[in-house]
Amino acid sequence: MKVVVLGSGGQLAFDIFRLKPEGVDLIGLTREELDVRDKESIVKTIRELNPDVVINTAAMVRVDDAEIYEDRVLEINAVPQKILGELSSQMNFSVVYISTDYVFDGTKREPYTEEDIPNPINMYGFSKFLGEKLLMNYTDRYYIVRTSALFGYKGSRSKGNVVYNLIRRFKEGKVINLIDDIYFAPAYTRDVAQQIWKFILQRWDHGIYHVVNDGFTSPYGLGLEIFAILGVHPRISRVSLKEMRFRARRPRYSVLQSVKRVKLRPWQEAIKAFLEEIDI
Ligand SMILES: NC(=O)c1ccc[n+]([C@@H]2O[C@H](COP(=O)([O-])OP(=O)(O)OC[C@H]3O[C@@H](n4cnc5c(N)ncnc54)[C@H](OP(=O)(O)O)[C@@H]3O)[C@@H](O)[C@H]2O)c1
Repeated sequence: MKVVVLGSGGQLAFDIFRLKPEGVDLIGLTREELDVRDKESIVKTIRELNPDVVINTAAMVRVDDAEIYEDRVLEINAVPQKILGELSSQMNFSVVYISTDYVFDGTKREPYTEEDIPNPINMYGFSKFLGEKLLMNYTDRYYIVRTSALFGYKGSRSKGNVVYNLIRRFKEGKVINLIDDIYFAPAYTRDVAQQIWKFILQRWDHGIYHVVNDGFTSPYGLGLEIFAILGVHPRISRVSLKEMRFRARRPRYSVLQSVKRVKLRPWQEAIKAFLEEIDI
């Protein structure tokens, strides 16, 4: 089986590679090797490689930047899904598209499942929602993997990850602002990557899947858990979302849950495993 990963320099892609099952021919294309804004290159490369599966992890991930660079975020996060969808229908390969909890508006007070209707409230969420729609319009052979607050060994070059960012601020010895009024389900890239391989190798039905660690927390709860595991006592200030004055609106409650067969370990266990894996 031949699998191609787009945006292969990223933190999720890193664990997709680390967990590559035997017998899979896995080809990664970094941004330098294939810019997903270049339609002709996508068509030429995918036709040449003739894969069974394309995993598109490429994205502009900085939520506040997406409010400023609207054209760019749509070009990177949304439009390529039309091209991949068309190619998928013509060539019969499956597409794995990584989407986000930010497709939801956060007005619900219980977890969002695959059956809930998206209603994004910022450009990043909108770009991902449009990407989902385009993919679903052009092919039936899709796995839309909605995940949130990814943390993994490699970190994202452009935005780090929630755990690394907290540890860095602790090391700098500064007061750490932790928001206590937004809720989400964190996701360990290792666990998400493992689930993606299950979709592919066990030939799960195509469709939308929510893939996050079990449970939910706030940045405040996440911070307390991390610092308790590390046995350190930074100076913490509890703040509200409003006080942070982010450029992009954020859903106050974007906890994902799967009503399908996806079940990852609780987020606390995943955080512990991640902290054991990294060099602090
Ligand atoms: N991180 C999160 O908390 C989170 C939450 C929900 C969903 N997601 C989604 O999960 C996926 C993986 O995220 P991640 O955390 O692994 O992010 P990441 O580490 O930033 O990976 C994204 C990769 O895409 C590349 N890229 C950016 N623009 C590109 C372009 N025009 N053409 C080709 N590649 C391009 C980036 O390259 P550069 O580093 O050179 O820019 C980077 O290697 C993304 O689709 C993201 O939207 C992430």
